[in-house]
Order: sequence, then structure tokens, then C-alpha cells
Amino acid sequence: MSEKMLSAASLGARILQMAGQLSRHSDQPDALTVSYLSPAHRAVAQDLAGWMREAGMRVEIDALGNVVGRYAGAHPDAPVLMTGSHFDTVRDGGRYDGRLGILLPIAVVAGLNASGERLPCELEIVAFADEEGLRFRSSFLSSSALVGAFDAALLDRADADGIALRDAMRAAGLPGTEASIRALARDRRQLAGYVEVHIEQGPVLLDRGLPVGIVTSIAGSVRMAAAVTGLASHAGTTPMTMRRDAAAAAAEMILAVERRCSQAPTLVGTVGMLAVPNGSANVVPGRCDFSLDIRAGDDATRDAAVADVVRECEAIASRRGVALSLTPLMRVPCARCAPRLVDELEACVERAGVQAFRLPSGAGHDAMMMARLTEVCMLFVRCGNGGISHNPLETMTADDAGVAAGVFVDFVRQVGRQVGRR
Ligand code: GLV
Ligand code: MN
Ligand code: MN
Repeated sequence: MSEKMLSAASLGARILQMAGQLSRHSDQPDALTVSYLSPAHRAVAQDLAGWMREAGMRVEIDALGNVVGRYAGAHPDAPVLMTGSHFDTVRDGGRYDGRLGILLPIAVVAGLNASGERLPCELEIVAFADEEGLRFRSSFLSSSALVGAFDAALLDRADADGIALRDAMRAAGLPGTEASIRALARDRRQLAGYVEVHIEQGPVLLDRGLPVGIVTSIAGSVRMAAAVTGLASHAGTTPMTMRRDAAAAAAEMILAVERRCSQAPTLVGTVGMLAVPNGSANVVPGRCDFSLDIRAGDDATRDAAVADVVRECEAIASRRGVALSLTPLMRVPCARCAPRLVDELEACVERAGVQAFRLPSGAGHDAMMMARLTEVCMLFVRCGNGGISHNPLETMTADDAGVAAGVFVDFVRQVGRQVGRR
């Protein structure tokens, strides 16, 4: 029974089955959207807590709503090996983004527990409640608190319905206080490292015919909210030469972002949100809001692009007689995975009979925040359907999940052994 529970086939099937069950909880009836502290979000947390308990873990839902499971190790004083990922989603997202990195370790721990196997050190699974930041524009909220970088100003930030973060927390039964969140900061001396399993969210492994890959670094990102203010006026009577059209100005700015961010290999720039608040078909837009997300494989490339984009948008605003305000929302530096853990993971991949392949991550992950506190590494799992993600078409196979679970078991045993010896 226990051997069977640790077989790749059984682990892969169980992981996909749990992901399917979680995907039934959503804020929207016809799409998978799970925003921070919504009823669906809390239902997901309850499912995760239940599965962690069944797997033999001590479970706690902390002051941010993170679900934390601990599988006790043979040496209680040894540093803890941490793993995890997020369970919130983007709007109309896929069922594996984030969740794979929680469900896979739960399935593995359930198998270890069934066979009576203790790791030398404790394995802690953190199901991060807020990484996408959909509801409060609060990306990496959970992991930032664990590394002691919680931004207390966020507590006053309101969602689209005007509900402040601290009130949403209280309504969900959390303390909603700065002190309770600050207290979540971890002591780096008690950590042996952090490993995150994540769907690749791109086509590289698919193109190479590989089930898993080893991440070398995670691209850093800058995010801003832009507000363009022009002058609302009559669409039928305002001559084209006399308009101060905020949306037309924003359109020109978006093209400037696209042009500048096409100039370096790992550089990407995206305007994913665009709105004319209170707009009407017969009114020249007086206001246009958009989001800006710029990333690159190294901070210097990204920062140079951000500076150029800001300069160019300001020039467009001034030429068109509109005002531009840019509010910084997030700045996360690039993170390197620890060479020691990357090598270890690579050896596990090879022992699984898979060709070892290293690749950088263009997507952001909790691991990049955790890298401020401890050594991190990541295992990517092949993404089907051409590598599409942040889309309901995101998919993966049970076979690949099983291969990844086998690599993960090997990795936690190896690292656990080293930690237990310290
Ligand atoms: C997280 O999904 C990101 O924005 O990369
Ligand atoms: Mn995501
Ligand atoms: Mn993710």
C-alpha cells in the first residue's frame, strides 16, 4: 500500500485529482478565479488544510490565511526544509499555476506518512494565500510577510468594492493587524532552504520533450498603475485638433511600451489592464487608467527599459496636453537559485532517468521573495497546450506530475539527510 502510494503513477493521479477538486471553488461561475479571502479562497484553504491533516501534518492557518502544514522530522532541532506555492489565481486562470507546488508535496507527504517514513528534518508546506495580488494589487503579500518585508500601508488599500484589506481580513476571521502579520516573519537560522515546484507556464520543456526542468533564476519585475487625465468633452462637437483624449494618449503609450520592451531578449512589457472609467460612446475620454508590468532576466536591463518607458510616456503626455501619473506598485529584484540546491535537484532529475535541463523563469514566483531569506531552488513541470498559462487552457499530465513527485521525494530525502547531519 505505502509503496504504491509513492509510485509515480499514483502520485501523479492524486495530484491531478486534487487540482480538479480545488478548481470547483471559484469567485465566478464560468471561470476559475480565486481572489484573496473570497469565499472560494477560504474553501480552497479548508480543502488544503484537510488534506495536509490526512497526510499526517500539523496544520495552522496563519494571520494572512496561509495554510501551513508541518511534517515532523526525526531530528526536531534540525533546520526546516520549506516548500510551497500559492493557491490564489489570476482572473480566469488555470488550475495548476501555484497549486501544483502545494498539492505535489502534500501527495508526497501522504505517501511518506503511509509508509512510516520520517525525513531527518521537518518538511514544511506553505500554501501561500496571496501571490497574484488580484484583489488588492498586493502581489507576493504572503511571501513578503514571511521574509519580514510586509508593507503595512497595504492594510489600507481597498479592493474594487472599496473594502480595505484590513477589513477583508477581519471579515475572514483574521486579526487584520500589522503586528499579527509582522509576527509571521521567519528566522533564517531555522531554515534549511526553500524548494518550489511550479508548472513552467511556457513552451520550453514542451518543445524539448522533457517532463521537468531545473530553474536557474527568476526574472525580476516592476509594476505600476498609470492614470492619464485629459478633458472629457462632446464626441460630436470637439474638433479632432482640440481634443485632450486620455485614451488616445494611453494607446500611444502602450505602443511605446511594446516597442521598447521588444529590444532585449529576456525583456517583456505588458499592459494587462486598460479602462476608461465612466466612459461613454459619445464622450471624448477624460481619463484612462492602465497597468504596466515590465520584467527582464536581469535588473539592469529591466530598469533601463522602465526609465525609457517612463520618459517616453511623459513626453507623449506633454505633447498631447494630458497629465500622467504613475504609481509604483511593486518592485521585485531578479533572484538566483542557489547553485548547491540547483546541483542537488539536477542530480535527482538524472536519477529519475530524465535528461537534466536548466532554464530561467520569466514568471514570478514566491521563491523569488523567499530568496531574500534562504537558499531557494525550483523544479518546473512541463506545461501542455503550447505552454499557455494564466488561461483556463493551462494543462499538464499526470505522468509529468508523477515524474516531478519522484524527483521531489528524492530531493527532500537528500537535503533532509544533509540537514539532519548538521
Ligand atoms: C505571477 O503569476 C507572475 O505575474 O509572474
Ligand atoms: Mn500566476
Ligand atoms: Mn504561480
